[in-house]
Amino acid sequence: EVTADPTATTETAEATAEPTVPETVVIGSDIPYRPFEYETTSGDLTGFDVDIAAAVFEDQLGIDYEFQPTSFDSIIPSLNNGNFRIIMSAMTINDERDEEVDFSDPYFTAYQTVIVREDSSISARADLEGETVGVQKGTTGAGAATGLQEEFGGDLSINEYDQINGAFQALLNGQVNAVINDNTVNAEFANEQDGVVFLKGDGVAADSDQDAPPYLTLTIESYGIAFREDDDEFLERVNEALATIRENGTYDEVYSEYFAG
Ligand code: ARG
Repeated sequence: EVTADPTATTETAEATAEPTVPETVVIGSDIPYRPFEYETTSGDLTGFDVDIAAAVFEDQLGIDYEFQPTSFDSIIPSLNNGNFRIIMSAMTINDERDEEVDFSDPYFTAYQTVIVREDSSISARADLEGETVGVQKGTTGAGAATGLQEEFGGDLSINEYDQINGAFQALLNGQVNAVINDNTVNAEFANEQDGVVFLKGDGVAADSDQDAPPYLTLTIESYGIAFREDDDEFLERVNEALATIRENGTYDEVYSEYFAG
């Protein structure tokens, strides 16, 4: 008499399970988000996240990596649907997202900041009341805008764009009068674009132990690499690699390529 082999299903499950560390890690990311992930004029993918990925995956873990462009607003469901293995997209670690994914250790500090046209009448946080701000959909910048809207008793309009460049374009053509977005990305745009400046004023950074930047900061955030919740072993290996590149100077080298000081 033949009875069912209780190990049979286990074997099948093992054979199809994802390896702890894949041969090639496919990384979901919303591109461009300069200076974190963007294409050079010759079409090569570059940026802080891209160089950190090279250091962590190629140099430390000995595997290939590949960036897969994807919409930021649906990036977490897309990860959980299996469209890619991890997210590296200048993504802020927060409680809401932490319920759906697991984050690596923090690898970058960022602030929500406000940029405006230099010739506009907005020169302080309070001047934003009654104005229209542009944000990228699904971002913490959009969250910060909602916070301001509540602070102003609803008297703030928020225009959401699928990509940050849509918001930047809207600022230039006057569809919005401010853009709320991560500081270094706003800085990259303001530096290359005449007549775009940061809104000044004391913000959250002034109360922190970080060096306060010379502009208004609405939030302090940390970026993390996001994993599916069952990917503990890979996450652990990536955290070790992140620690190693901090110790061996690679992180600082990459940092100084994109950020002054
Ligand atoms: N740090 C912000 C957030 O997590 C914005 C990230 C946008 N990233 C991108 N690659 N477009 O919400």
